Amino acid sequence: MSATLLDGKALAAKIRQELAEQVTRFVEQTGVTPSLAAVLVGSDPASQVYVRNKRRDCREVGISSVLHELPDDTSQADLLGLVKQFNQDPQVHGILVQLPVPPQIDTERVLAAIHPQKDVDAFHPENVGLLVQGRPRYLPCTPHGVQQLLQRNNLALAGQHVVIVGRSDIVGKPLSIMLAQRGLDATVTLCHSRTADLPAITRQADILVVAIGRPKFVTADMVRPGAVVIDVGINRTADGLVGDVDFDGVREVAGHLTPVPGGVGPLTRVMLLVNTLTAARELESERTTTPS
Ligand code: GUN
Repeated sequence: MSATLLDGKALAAKIRQELAEQVTRFVEQTGVTPSLAAVLVGSDPASQVYVRNKRRDCREVGISSVLHELPDDTSQADLLGLVKQFNQDPQVHGILVQLPVPPQIDTERVLAAIHPQKDVDAFHPENVGLLVQGRPRYLPCTPHGVQQLLQRNNLALAGQHVVIVGRSDIVGKPLSIMLAQRGLDATVTLCHSRTADLPAITRQADILVVAIGRPKFVTADMVRPGAVVIDVGINRTADGLVGDVDFDGVREVAGHLTPVPGGVGPLTRVMLLVNTLTAARELESERTTTPS
């Protein structure tokens, strides 16, 4: 058996088209163009590519974006100053500080300094708290991308055993909370580097999500025949870009599988656009209903 591939690239293009229509309507109704401010500190080539792609996506759907590139030796104070400037700028609806930032900068402090309403990554502690309580302001982009990829391919979540490998703040942890919420109703097991007998657990998964950051970590023997396997990993190796799943082996066992590239990645980028439009809607509706 060969798994059905889940085409994230095509789905992302479809959602971008839907979004472009929503952005057009918003601009007609308000006269305001949704806008994203992106900050890139340092010269990490992968981050440069990510930010360039995010800005291209913005252009495609009619969202404006500005990029502030800061040198590797930027101080924490200077970065916080820039974030504050964006917080106060009514023309900026969403703020994104591309991670990782250089070591002299305290990531948590910077993320907490972003105005929660402009926090389109959903990394601010207030937004994480709202997510945990089941009333999210924004859904974090990669977990939301995984959710959309499953739902729009009619892969049921309710009552299914979802096993997530990797407990990062960006993917595994928030995804585990989202999928277990009332309404989505999955049963979630969150595994990590210290999990005992990991293959015994991954083989129980109806849906296996891998976000551990190790190339080809999940092999065919770790997958139940017919399972849905979602590969969140993007690893740059001598063989080029590879995921956290051994694609060729797992393809022979899984029922559905995401490719890398072209799986979750394009959906992550689209969810940033969704959040930026939401931010623009919220901020503009507040501005027009708050007496000055
Ligand atoms: N670096 C890797 N993934 C992300 C992301 O989703 N948002 C930001 N800001 N930086 C990242």
